[in-house]
Amino acid sequence: MSRDARILGIESSCDETAAAVVSNGRVVLSSVIASQIDVHRKYGGVVPELASREHLRRIVPVVREALDRAGLGPGDVAAIGVTSGPGLIGSLLVGVTYGKALAQALGKPLVAVNHLEGHVRAVILEALGAGREPELPAVCLIVSGGHTVLYAVERAEPGAIEAVRFRYGRLGQTRDDAAGEAYDKVAKMLALGYPGGPVIDALSGSGDATAIRFGEPKMKGNPYDFSFSGIKTAVLYHLRAHPELEPEIRARLAALGEGKRKAAELRPLSSAPTLDLVASFQRAVVSNLVSKTLGAAEQNAARSVLVSGGVAANRELRKTFEREANRRGIAVFFPSLALSTDNAAMIAAAAYPRLLAGEYASETLNAEAVLPLA
Ligand code: KG4
Ligand code: ZN
Repeated sequence: MSRDARILGIESSCDETAAAVVSNGRVVLSSVIASQIDVHRKYGGVVPELASREHLRRIVPVVREALDRAGLGPGDVAAIGVTSGPGLIGSLLVGVTYGKALAQALGKPLVAVNHLEGHVRAVILEALGAGREPELPAVCLIVSGGHTVLYAVERAEPGAIEAVRFRYGRLGQTRDDAAGEAYDKVAKMLALGYPGGPVIDALSGSGDATAIRFGEPKMKGNPYDFSFSGIKTAVLYHLRAHPELEPEIRARLAALGEGKRKAAELRPLSSAPTLDLVASFQRAVVSNLVSKTLGAAEQNAARSVLVSGGVAANRELRKTFEREANRRGIAVFFPSLALSTDNAAMIAAAAYPRLLAGEYASETLNAEAVLPLA
């Protein structure tokens, strides 16, 4: 292999078709993301059949654009890294089939990547780009619309961080909804559009986060497991107990129908009690994520905390993590917004150490809807 290993990453596990080229696991040469949000919006969530069809339509132009922007031809890449799971099976299959065909046609190695490992690598990639290197062992919180899971991350071998494989231990996970899913469902109940996270994030600043007390979920067993279905139900009961909020919900629904989806357009249609509800919901979710993650970090003597996935874009989550981690003397790392949500640069970065280790996927590589990292 040449000393400059440029890997083409392909990601299609959920609702973004993405391709990227990353050099030596640390320099992003290009990253192209075709989002399907507009396709799924009117259903208030990802529709698997529509997602596969969109991936099929977008994958070829997206890969071509990633190569073009990197100034490369297909033959210039050292390998192809593709997400093989976990995710929606029909969506994954599009990327896996295309990645296999391309690798075979070009005579290049194919590396299978676990999407969750991609999220871990997104944080490392970002940190290296900013000239900071997270010290391991770390605890990584992956928090998105599909996942809420905590891992212990350590080196499996010596070497530069971007070039070594990691060993993972699962410390906890959600027992029901993912945190992003709770955001999306609460946004749906309140007619705040889809996806719900960014709008709730923006509106929360205008509400009183201490107005409504949502209790901590009562759970037996592993203290690092999460649960978000209780708070979602609590919001539903709150709305049932406050029918006076119904007219504004209808007004926002009408606004959404006219394409008014921005927080700035929805805020004037939201009363103070609604803004308080949204802010209190967010505060409860954020404190839960932060306290469990930092608890796990202390218990595991982690040197850093890595936070990744779509919900990692949340401003209050970032601020609270920074404040609380600082107090405990633990360094905390987030990806940029572009690398927080699903992308293929993180997949190319995750493929690099596996390529170096000769972990090539066989021609029989299959997509796997369920694929635990540990
Ligand atoms: O990682 P991602 O793009 O896709 C999945 O793998 O799920 O995450 C999307 C999720 C959605 O649930 C969305 O509401 C949430 O991330 N999200 C946010 C924010 N931005 C996106 N949640 C809270 N605050 C945000 N700013
Ligand atoms: Zn993801």
